[in-house]
Amino acid sequence: MAKPGLTAMVVAAVALVVAAVALVVAMVAKHAHAEADDPEKVDAWFNGLSHADRKTTRLHFYFHDTLSGRNPTAVRIAEAKSPTGFGVVNMIDDPLTKGPEPESPLVGRAQGFYGSVGLESMALHMSMNLVFTTPEYHGSTLSILGRNPALETYREMPIVGGTGVFRLASGVVTAKTYFLNLTTGDAVVEYKVIALHY
Ligand SMILES: *[C@@H]1O[C@H](CO)[C@@H](O)[C@H](O)[C@H]1NC(C)=O
Repeated sequence: MAKPGLTAMVVAAVALVVAAVALVVAMVAKHAHAEADDPEKVDAWFNGLSHADRKTTRLHFYFHDTLSGRNPTAVRIAEAKSPTGFGVVNMIDDPLTKGPEPESPLVGRAQGFYGSVGLESMALHMSMNLVFTTPEYHGSTLSILGRNPALETYREMPIVGGTGVFRLASGVVTAKTYFLNLTTGDAVVEYKVIALHY
């Protein structure tokens, strides 16, 4: 009489272990391509694409562009003499944080450069990769290439691609200045991301 009970317990225990393993595998699989994979895995991922659903991911963070002080994250690499700053280029490795304060938790960095491209009015050309450091998106990037008339209230720039979780990304980022020091050029900019990816 004890045997069926024992069998049931063993079956239940095995089922529990299988469920736990499946959960771990699912969690690993979800984050498996956050960082760069080997080419065969990338190839396999593309082969599975026809069965994949397109996802929409929304992100919100603050971009800290610091030109002044002892630890600038934006460095001028080309100078120019023009009322609109035309020709100036800055290389950046700007922290991205959850909130607007500099000590707010880091979620990633914006690495790239921007240059002043407006002869008659102030406009920037942005060319940067957002690289995320949070566990969910660790090592994944979004590439931004667009026009940023930085003195306007709202700006919109295209997402032209991505890697890791954001492979084949497209979409838009919107930027709104949260703080600007006109003397130093230091700025904190609120970014919202809407990315389509698989
Ligand atoms: C802008 O920066 C200058 C130079 O560091 C500083 O004296 C001034 O207080 C800053 N202004 C604001 C609004 O933070």
